[in-house]
Amino acid sequence: MALDTKYNAVVTALGMYVPETILDNKYFEKIVETNDEWIKSRTGISERRIIENGATSDLATGAAKDLIEKYNINPEEIDVVIVSTVTPDMFFPATACLVQDNIGAKNAWGFDVSAACSGFLFGFHVGASLIESGRYKKVLVIGADKMSAITDYTDRNTCILFGDAAAAVLLEPTEDKNFGLQDSLLHCDGSGREALYMKGGGSLNPPTHETVDKKLHYIFQDGKAVFKVAVKGMADISYEIMQKNNLTSEDIAYLVPHQANLRIIDATAQRMGIPKEKVMINIDKYGNTTAATIPLCLVEYYRDGKVKKGDKLILSAFGAGFTWGATYLVWGMD
Ligand code: UT7
Repeated sequence: MALDTKYNAVVTALGMYVPETILDNKYFEKIVETNDEWIKSRTGISERRIIENGATSDLATGAAKDLIEKYNINPEEIDVVIVSTVTPDMFFPATACLVQDNIGAKNAWGFDVSAACSGFLFGFHVGASLIESGRYKKVLVIGADKMSAITDYTDRNTCILFGDAAAAVLLEPTEDKNFGLQDSLLHCDGSGREALYMKGGGSLNPPTHETVDKKLHYIFQDGKAVFKVAVKGMADISYEIMQKNNLTSEDIAYLVPHQANLRIIDATAQRMGIPKEKVMINIDKYGNTTAATIPLCLVEYYRDGKVKKGDKLILSAFGAGFTWGATYLVWGMD
C-alpha cells in the first residue's frame, strides 16, 4: 500500500557493530544451573556478545562509523540521528546526542526511541516519516542495546537470552514509489507492562539501597506469559501486513523477525507460509540484542549478497510494553 506522499524513504547505507567478547552456552553452565542443550532447544541461542568496556553509545557509534566509512557518507550531511534503545547511557542527555557528537554530525538533531524489542521498527517508521515529509534528506536510524548492563547474571531465566550489539541504516528520499518503506503496522498495549520490565531507576522507583538490594535494576520477565503473547502477536501482525498489501508468501523475499526466540520466529514464518530459507536468522550467534536484532540481520544478509534490489521484506517484532509491529519494505540498494 504505497503512501500518499511525494517521497518514499529508502535504505541507502548500512552498518553494524558487535563487541568482541563472546559468551557461549558453556560459560553459563558454569555460572547458573543450565545446560547447552536446554538453551539451544528452548531459544535457538548458542552464543552472544557483550561489551566489556563501553556503553550503548559506543555500540551505536561503532555501527554509525561502519556505515559512514563503508559508504563514504559526510557526517555533516546527516540531518537527524535516531537511536532506538532501552539501555541509554543515562536518562539524559539522549544517546542520540552522544552519537551525534561522536560521529561529527554537526548539523543533526536527534532523539532516542524507547520501544524495547520493537524499537527499531518504531524508530524506522518515525525516521521514514521525516523523509516522506520532504523536510529531511538523510536520517540515521540506529538500533543499539547493551543488555548486559541490565541483566542479572544469577537469574537463569533471563541471563542466557540477551546480548549487546548495534546496527544502523541511513534513510534517504526517493521519488520511485516502488522502493523503500511501503507500510507499517505498529501497536502498543501498556496493560502488558508487568510481564517484561525494569522496575527500578525511574521516577516510580528511584534508585535507593533498597532498590539495589531487591534487584529492581535488572530485567524482569515472565517468560511464559511473554512467549504466549509474542507468538500470537508477531505471527498475527506479520500475516496482517501481508494481507493488507496483497502479498503472498511467494512475493516475499525475506521475513526479518526480531530475534528473541527461534520458536517464536518459526511460528511467525509458519503462519505466513514462509519457508525457513526465507527467514533471516542470527539469534544463534548474538542472542536477543533488543533494538539491534532486525537491523543486524539486514546488514549481515545484505553483506552476504542475499538481499537484492526489489526484494520485498517483512520486518516484524514483539517486545516489552507490550509493543509490536510489522513493516513492509522494498529493498532499494544494488
Ligand atoms: O524480546 C522481547 C520479548 N521476549 C520474548 O519474546 C521472550 C519470550 N519467552 C521465551 O522466549 C521463553 O519463555 C523462555 C526462553 C524465556 C523460557 O522458555 P520456556 O520454554 O517458556 O521455559 P519456562 O519459562 O516455561 O521454563 C521451563 C522450565 C522451568 O523449570 P520448572 O519450573 O518446569 O521446573 C524453568 O525454571 O525451565 C526452567 N528454566 C531453565 N532450565 C535450564 C528456565 N531457564 C532455564 C535455563 N536452563 N536457563
